[in-house]
Amino acid sequence: MAEKFRVTYATLTADNEDMHVAYEAGIETARGWLGAEIAAPGDDSPGDPVEVTSPADPAVVIARVRAASPAAIEKAMEDARAAAPEWAGRSWQDRMAVIRKVGDLISEYSNELAALVTMEVGKNRLEALGDVEEAAVFFRYYADQMEANEGYDRPMDSLTAAEKTRSVLKPHGVWAVIAPFNFPAALAAGPAAAALLTGNTVVLKPSVQGSHTAWRIYQILLKAGVPEGAVQFLPGGDEVGKAVVGHREVDGITFTGSYAVGMSILRDSTAAGYPKPVVAEMGGKNPTIVAASADLDKAAQGVARSAFGFSGQKCSACSRVYVDASVHDEFLAKLAAKAEEVTPADPLERDTFMGPVIDADAVARFEKAVNHARESGRVVAGGEVLQGTDGFPGHYVQATVVGNLRSDDWLFAEELFVPFVAVTAVDSLDEAMARANETPLGLTAGFFSGDDAEIDWFLDTIHAGVVYVNRPAGATTGAWPGVQPFGGWKGSGSSGKAGGGLYYLGLYLREQSQSVVS
Ligand code: NAD
Ligand code: ALA
Repeated sequence: MAEKFRVTYATLTADNEDMHVAYEAGIETARGWLGAEIAAPGDDSPGDPVEVTSPADPAVVIARVRAASPAAIEKAMEDARAAAPEWAGRSWQDRMAVIRKVGDLISEYSNELAALVTMEVGKNRLEALGDVEEAAVFFRYYADQMEANEGYDRPMDSLTAAEKTRSVLKPHGVWAVIAPFNFPAALAAGPAAAALLTGNTVVLKPSVQGSHTAWRIYQILLKAGVPEGAVQFLPGGDEVGKAVVGHREVDGITFTGSYAVGMSILRDSTAAGYPKPVVAEMGGKNPTIVAASADLDKAAQGVARSAFGFSGQKCSACSRVYVDASVHDEFLAKLAAKAEEVTPADPLERDTFMGPVIDADAVARFEKAVNHARESGRVVAGGEVLQGTDGFPGHYVQATVVGNLRSDDWLFAEELFVPFVAVTAVDSLDEAMARANETPLGLTAGFFSGDDAEIDWFLDTIHAGVVYVNRPAGATTGAWPGVQPFGGWKGSGSSGKAGGGLYYLGLYLREQSQSVVS
């Protein structure tokens, strides 16, 4: 099965001319969409429009987003509830056909959607195409899982000849999907695909900054044949998210976003007097360990791609590196050289590796971290804010490497979500592992080593949900549905089952054990 999902991924390479031509045509289409007004369908009294501008250029208005009114939220919930019996009552084969169609349509429109993603959040074209194609693959992969599991309806043993027993997995009802800004296509689409396929109806609340892409995905869901009632679109900010997850009609929640918000949703999830299922995928402070036996060129490349890809704004980004003291200086020099090669640029341009960060708050976080590193350690590469300087109208900063920090420095603990990586020497691999595992987060982790016994030890000992060894393409990043199931451990993820993996659909279902005596 993995082969099949590698195929679409493999077409996303910098030297694929056809891909560039198609994406550039997509830019033209997406430009025609700019400035769209986005509100909840049928909302008579939406909030005042919030202008969402491109992080690459504040003069480019991506959308005017009007937050859903309380009345629209109420109506969306009631409509989702009303639509639930019909949608859940369809055969799984029927729902699966609709879901496969969604995947096909997302792929059909992938170039214009990806161009929109680039303009909306600043992803370069490969990353944006990856985000959109990942969204499509989620639909296909989950449909295949549903089929492989025969709709999760199985006969069980019987204790007597007269008794027929079954294990039937059923939907919960109305499922809220709360999405982050950084994968505006894949992380609105993936949870919605799983919830819908398993027979739940969906209320989708995208991030304000990812609203336009999510709005297009919502339109595709309808076009593919998801009934209007079965998917509800509620734009708006954190307050709308709060109203959605706290609503009495919501039976289950998938939240993807920061640790603090995820934990508050988990804490509130029993407010109805019983526990509601919450799939919370949260932040990362992802470590990479570099052993003395490692290929240091590969390690530097893998860390640079992980730390600076999409300007460090992936939950999977590598943001701390523990290097064996005997090779620390050599590794640091190689990583610094890689960082210096990163020239921030307009993400629509063909060869751009790193574009802007999402907004001025991200720039302020970057500045605070750099200032602290200058006082408490050393900025080895980068460190400058480019925002507002000549040629950089948007929220641009440099790819940054810091060192010489104390081991308990907050820069090793706090997720920054900017292109910033802290490196330190360790005296042993055991020390590196202790430090890698010491944060409350456990999303991804990387290891570079030339020793099989060390690799086995790493795989046995690291506390993270997604782990990689010797990966120059991305030390801790780049998971693909059906290939690397993606989900966090500890404070990075509540459910222990990963998206794009074998066990994910079960999170959206509840088991009914049926015994019928004839
Ligand atoms: P965020 O937590 O600020 O917002 C995420 C979503 O939650 C947005 O739609 C927001 O409006 C909504 N929201 C905010 N407060 C809410 C509340 N009280 N109740 C309900 N909804 C609320 O995150 P972000 O800045 O959009 O995304 C970046 C964060 O997401 C990072 O921490 C990153 O690591 C994490 N992330 C995790 C994964 C993963 O799979 N683990 C994937 C992508 C992003
Ligand atoms: N799929 C994304 C990655 O692994 C989150 O980087």
